[in-house]
Amino acid sequence: MPTILITGAASGLGAAFLAHYAADPSNSLLALDRSPIQPLPTCAARLTTHTLDITSEPSLASLSRKLKDVPIDLLIHSAGVRGLVPELAQSHPGDAARAETIEVTDRETMRAAFEINTLGAFVLIRMLLPNLRLAAAPRAVVMSSRMGSVSYNSTGGGYAYRASKAALNAVVKSLSIDVPEVMFVLVHPGRVETGLVEWKEEGAIGADESVREMVALVGRLGREDSGRFVDRWGKDIGW
Ligand SMILES: NC(=O)c1ccc[n+]([C@@H]2O[C@H](COP(=O)([O-])OP(=O)(O)OC[C@H]3O[C@@H](n4cnc5c(N)ncnc54)[C@H](OP(=O)(O)O)[C@@H]3O)[C@@H](O)[C@H]2O)c1
Repeated sequence: MPTILITGAASGLGAAFLAHYAADPSNSLLALDRSPIQPLPTCAARLTTHTLDITSEPSLASLSRKLKDVPIDLLIHSAGVRGLVPELAQSHPGDAARAETIEVTDRETMRAAFEINTLGAFVLIRMLLPNLRLAAAPRAVVMSSRMGSVSYNSTGGGYAYRASKAALNAVVKSLSIDVPEVMFVLVHPGRVETGLVEWKEEGAIGADESVREMVALVGRLGREDSGRFVDRWGKDIGW
């Protein structure tokens, strides 16, 4: 029975990944989020949930002890934040650009984005390497963003999100080289209506549609794809 661990599983893409993989009775699921995860009664026996913040090293260490000797076949790392200045995101809903300009971006917003999107991801994935190495053909799929592409940045702004996702990309690229026995891939899910911002962004698709395409992509990925940064159809995105 393959074991799949999904982070960010309480909301948006993580929740849609969880619902998708839970529908297959041959999967065993581990789900993690700092917010409570909706119970899935149809697969209660195959699902274990953990409420924890990935920036808390003691919480991660405790999870690591609980998962000792558990092989993980597929890690979907979906926990992340958008890195908008909270007061501006609240006072001007619908205007993300205004909440991430050069003028308004503050140290605390940058720090929080790096803590979660970059450091949290690095510590979590490194902690799970022993579990991934126990699987026959382990894969780690990490939700990145096209906004983390330095070469595609033609509009500026987005300091906290762009920088924290670009740094995440660098981290996962190094992991793909240092840990060749695990396949790592960075995926841009598209613009998707989720809890990442509190409004629907223009042109956003549903989480189910994005996840359906990413699941198909995950099914096509092989060892040779490790270290790639792709969109949800598997097309390379420039670093
Ligand atoms: N939606 C898009 O258009 C889009 C586009 C490109 C990339 N992405 C990426 O896709 C991933 C999933 O985002 P989403 O759109 O599904 O957003 P979402 O609905 O907000 O889901 C993200 C989940 O991660 C959780 N989380 C945040 N910080 C955490 C922490 N420190 N520890 C544990 N859990 C934490 C969130 O909890 P809280 O609700 O408590 O914050 C939330 O449940 C993110 O990495 C995002 O950057 C999304």
